[in-house]
Amino acid sequence: MPILTIASSKGGVGKTVVAEILVAQLAADGCRIAVLDADPNRALSGWLADVYEGPPPVEVIAEADETRVALAMPALSATADSLIIDTAGFASLAASVAMTGADAVLVPVLPGRADLVEAERTVQRAESLARAARREVPVRVVANRVRRGTSLSKHALSQAEDLRLPRLTTALSDLVGHGEIGFTGRLPGSSLALEEIAALVAELRQLGWIPEALVRAIV
Ligand SMILES: Nc1ncnc2c1ncn2[C@@H]1O[C@H](COP(=O)(O)OP(=O)(O)O)[C@@H](O)[C@H]1O
Ligand SMILES: [Mg+2]
Repeated sequence: MPILTIASSKGGVGKTVVAEILVAQLAADGCRIAVLDADPNRALSGWLADVYEGPPPVEVIAEADETRVALAMPALSATADSLIIDTAGFASLAASVAMTGADAVLVPVLPGRADLVEAERTVQRAESLARAARREVPVRVVANRVRRGTSLSKHALSQAEDLRLPRLTTALSDLVGHGEIGFTGRLPGSSLALEEIAALVAELRQLGWIPEALVRAIV
């Protein structure tokens, strides 16, 4: 079942928030999710253990050792509809393994010059690892913390186009609703944040990167 790795060699770009959003939304949709937290800081698995309030993933493993990550990936994906992998904010071996074995790689990027250059590096790393493994692993960047209508976001968009970064149409705005999932453990109440999450999930479903919503009887 699809393995989605969320990666960027830059910290603080929203990898863990995007992972939290996807886990919460897919679990709410009845999908059986497995989670591999390959960041030694264990932010995602800590959130799942202490904060998250939705239906639990079928399995959660926090493992930053690259050999164990390689072994865990096929095992976890076999038990679930979707395996979501969060990675560290530096170019770790575990992140490279997680990108090489993934079915798709999502790279969150903030609207800044240095951020876009760093995202380009992560995209190139993911593409070259896939080539070395002779696999097709699609990669897309997703703009995060966008402030719509500002000149900063326009500059960032044009630089992303200059760099020919493969990107999702959906972008996530800088919204309290997205940030607060880390504290509330629930999908946001704000309608704009929910709309953006719905658009993100729809686009990832269209790409075949995450499973369709399953209707399961609730008793
Ligand atoms: N779209 C967003 N809107 C508001 N806050 C955000 C958004 N995305 C991320 N954040 C906040 O930015 C910080 C860094 O995000 P995080 O997901 O931890 O980054 P990473 O995992 O890439 O290091 C967190 O405090 C998070 O709540
Ligand atoms: Mg993180």
